[in-house]
Amino acid sequence: MKIIRAKDYQDMSRKAANIISAQVIMKPDCVLGLATGGTPVGTYAQLVDWYNKGDLDFSEVTTVNLDEYRGLPKEHPQSYWYFMNENLFSKVNIDPAKTNLPDGTNLDTAAECARYNGIIHKLGGIDLQLLGIGPNGHIGFNEPGEAFELETHCIDLAPTTIEANKRFFDGNENLVPKQAYTMGIKTIMQARKVLVVANGKAKAQAVKDAVTGPVTPACPGSILQLHPDCILVADEEALSLL
Ligand code: F6R
Repeated sequence: MKIIRAKDYQDMSRKAANIISAQVIMKPDCVLGLATGGTPVGTYAQLVDWYNKGDLDFSEVTTVNLDEYRGLPKEHPQSYWYFMNENLFSKVNIDPAKTNLPDGTNLDTAAECARYNGIIHKLGGIDLQLLGIGPNGHIGFNEPGEAFELETHCIDLAPTTIEANKRFFDGNENLVPKQAYTMGIKTIMQARKVLVVANGKAKAQAVKDAVTGPVTPACPGSILQLHPDCILVADEEALSLL
């Protein structure tokens, strides 16, 4: 794993956006795997800024997102579809027909997972997968203990993830959905390039475990040590235990 040190959140965001920009410029019809959450917000803002300056063209890009809460409709302000629309899709010239997320309203788990896996397979896999990392080491919503060999599946959110994400639901954990559809680790590991972003002290232990700990389902991010082209862009605080 290649580690790129950033001074702070803004520096992390610019460095990550540079790597994504390079991918889009080198292969305009690339497949980008995208993440939601707090960490990549600055990265998307930087990409939007460069798009507005005429430096980036998303017209041929296809996207597949990592995950979506099961049960939330697209229009819910905390759905990942809504997040992507707010932070990126509505602000650049991406073709909405080329953006893909699991459908949280399809409660037929087997059918929805098969549909989403089918999309990723038909696209021929992912050129660059952007990831955040949870304080418990999760990637996507692959929580500690998840099998490494899964593709898209439905998971029960870990209590620590519900706790970490309640900030997006008025601080009320009862409002946080308890399940999500997530791309599996097998799919993430098949991406041709993986870019992990991490910032802040709350991620320091997870980053340490993912980068230097044993490769174990107890820390899902640790599998990335075995990826042939994985880059971690993290700020000083997130790297403080290394
Ligand atoms: C988001 C996702 C999650 C987040 C992780 C970190 O699509 O799959 O794995 O990347 O929970 O979230 P933040 O960035 O909010 O700390």
